[in-house]
Amino acid sequence: MSQLPDGFWHDNGVAVYDYPPQHQPKYQLLGWMPVEEFRSLKLSIAISGKMLTPIVVDEDGEIIDGHHRDLAFVQLTNEGIKIERPVPHILKGLSEEEKRHFALRANMVRRQITRQKRREIIAEELRRSPDLANQWIAEISGCDGKTVAEVRKELESRSEIPTVATFRRRDGKTCPAKVIVPRTARQAEDVRKHLKVIGTDVSTCSPKMIKFLADEKARNEAAASLPPITLKDIDIRNCWFQDLDLAPESVHAIITDIPWEQDFTESGQLAELAAMADRVLVPGGFLVTYSGQLYLDVVMAEFCKKLKWGWQLCSSWEGEASIIHHRQVVNKHLPILVFSKGEWKKRRKWVDRLPPTTKDKSLYRDQRPLPEVDYLVEKFSDPGDLVCDPMLGSGSTAISCFRLNRRFVGSEMKDDIFKRAMARLHKEVRNDEPQSDHAQQKEI
Ligand SMILES: C[S@@+](CC[C@H](N)C(=O)[O-])C[C@H]1O[C@@H](n2cnc3c(N)ncnc32)[C@H](O)[C@@H]1O
Repeated sequence: MSQLPDGFWHDNGVAVYDYPPQHQPKYQLLGWMPVEEFRSLKLSIAISGKMLTPIVVDEDGEIIDGHHRDLAFVQLTNEGIKIERPVPHILKGLSEEEKRHFALRANMVRRQITRQKRREIIAEELRRSPDLANQWIAEISGCDGKTVAEVRKELESRSEIPTVATFRRRDGKTCPAKVIVPRTARQAEDVRKHLKVIGTDVSTCSPKMIKFLADEKARNEAAASLPPITLKDIDIRNCWFQDLDLAPESVHAIITDIPWEQDFTESGQLAELAAMADRVLVPGGFLVTYSGQLYLDVVMAEFCKKLKWGWQLCSSWEGEASIIHHRQVVNKHLPILVFSKGEWKKRRKWVDRLPPTTKDKSLYRDQRPLPEVDYLVEKFSDPGDLVCDPMLGSGSTAISCFRLNRRFVGSEMKDDIFKRAMARLHKEVRNDEPQSDHAQQKEI
C-alpha cells in the first residue's frame, strides 16, 4: 500500500483524510455524516470496486443526493483505486423547493438522525415555508404530522414563524387553516389582545390555546433576557434524556414527571426511560414519577419490566379540578409512583398522602408544586446524592435539589422550556424566589 497525502491507514486498509470537508454543498442539508460512517461507506465502495447507487444532480450538475458517495469516489480515484461509477441521474425542471425536498426525503430515511436533529430539520423547513401543510413536511422529514404540528406550535409561540391562514398541500392545492370564531364579545376582546402579543391577526386555534401561546411568548421573552449560569453541582442540559451520558450506577434517585400522553408511551420512550433507570441507578436507587391515570396500566407494566414496584403517593390540590372527559371524572388527585432498582432499601418513615397544594402554573402548564417535589427529593435521596430528572420541564426538581443540597443532572428537550428552567435556577441562586411554598413540607 502506498502512503497517502496527510492520511492514515485504517485497520481495514481504507484511509479517510480532509474529512469533513470545509464547504457545505447547497443540497447537503443534514451536514456531513460522522467520520466512522464515511469510512465504512468508502470501504464498501473500495471493496466492491463500484458505486452501486448513482448520484443525483440537477441540470447544472449540482449534486442533490450522493455527496458522500461522490467524495468517496474522488478520494479513492486520487488514491489510484479504480472505481466503476454509474452515470449520474439528472433531475430536470425541479424548483429549488422541490430539489431541497428531494434531498431531505432521500437522506432522512437513510441517515441515523436523532429526534432532536429531526425536530431541528422540521423547524428549519417551517421557517423557510411556514405555509407548507404539516402532512407535507411530515412526509419529507419521515415523521408524523403530530410532531410537525408540535414544532409549529413551538415556533409560533416564539414568533419565529407567522400563524398562516392557508396551507399549501403537496398535490398543489391549498387548504384553509381552521379559523375559530370567538363565541362572546368578551372572548373576542381577549383573543384580540392575545393575538397582538403573539404578533398575528389570524386565529386558527381555540381562545384557550391562543391565551396559552401568548403566555408562553411572554414567559419565553422574560427567560431569554437572562444570561446562562453554571453551577458546579446542578447540571441542566438542553437535550433529550436519551442523549444524557450518565455513567452506569451513578444516580441515587430519578425524580421526574413523565409526559402523560399516549405518544410518549407508544413511541417507545417509556421503555427507553425504564432501561435508562435500570442502567444508571445505583442498586436500591429509586425512580419516582408523577403519572397521569389514563395510561397508568402501561406505565406500571413498562417500569415493572426493569424495576421493582414500590408504592404510590397521592398528590392533590385545592381549587379548580381537571375534567377528564374520557372517564367523566372530576379529577383532583394524581398518583406519584415509586419503583426501586432491585430490593427496596429501608429508609426513614415517609407519608404517602401529600398535603393538598394550590396549583402553581406560573412557569409552565405542567409545573408541579415545589413543596411536593421537595418532599420527594428529601425522602428518596440523601444530601450529597446525585438526583436526575430526565424531563425537567420548568426545573422543579433541580430547584429542590439546589435547596436541599443534592447534586443534580437533568435534561429538557424543548429549547424554550429549558430556558425557563435556566432562568428559574438563576433566580433561585440569587435568592430572589419567594420561599413561602417551602413551609408546607414541614407539616407532613
Ligand atoms: C410533565 S413535564 C415536566 C414538568 C416539570 N415537573 C415541572 O415542574 O415543570 C415533562 C417534560 O418533559 C419534556 N420531555 C418529553 N420528552 C423528553 C425527552 N425525551 N427528553 C427530554 N425531555 C423530554 C417535555 O418537553 C416536558 O417539558
